[in-house]
Amino acid sequence: MPSRLPDAALDQLFRNARSHNGFIDEPIGEDTLKALYELAKWGPTAANTCPLRIVFIRSHEAKERLRPALAPGNVAKAMSAPVVALLGRDMTFHEHLPRLFPHVDAKSWFVGNQPLIEESARLNASLQAAYLILAARALGLDCGPMSGFKPELADQAFFADSSVSSFMLLALGRGDPNKLFPRSPRFDFDDVCRIA
Ligand SMILES: Cc1cc2nc3c(=O)[nH]c(=O)nc-3n(C[C@H](O)[C@H](O)[C@H](O)COP(=O)(O)O)c2cc1C
Repeated sequence: MPSRLPDAALDQLFRNARSHNGFIDEPIGEDTLKALYELAKWGPTAANTCPLRIVFIRSHEAKERLRPALAPGNVAKAMSAPVVALLGRDMTFHEHLPRLFPHVDAKSWFVGNQPLIEESARLNASLQAAYLILAARALGLDCGPMSGFKPELADQAFFADSSVSSFMLLALGRGDPNKLFPRSPRFDFDDVCRIA
């Protein structure tokens, strides 16, 4: 039976974790990026569709290819991060279902049903993006999620001639506490929850 995590772990994952706006110049090794994926991949998706695709943008050359796609307000933040993960959804995720969900013919649920493909890719890749944030925090990395960029430009630079469409950026590294905004409030339980 799983047990409740210690408060220190909950602080690191949620209560003290922030969205960072600047990063300290400290590289992230390939081993850490692999460990990050190996942890995040276990988060659940509908019918195990796993539509998320990731490009870990780390080299100077790759960051320069990303730069034109960034919203002006995100350039400094993204460029200061040792790694920016470009997150995309594979719109042909269902082709992999015979391998990923072998006990039923789940691929046939999607073939020819473009609205279902799009809705499923959107929901499940977004869930996987959230798992990636929590996995990064669990491994001691800070995150800077960003949707302020031009996906079509990022697609041209990193997902050309593929079925993948980018939807989010996730800066990774050690955050610079001096660049944080004050913590914004969240809704209280009674504001947004009901127990029926
Ligand atoms: C999907 C997503 C997109 C975001 N896009 C941007 C962005 O383009 N630029 C930016 O500065 N912050 C962006 N943020 C950061 C949010 O403003 C931040 O997560 C939120 O205010 C909560 O901050 P906190 O985690 O420090 O409490 C984004 C966050 C998420 C989850």
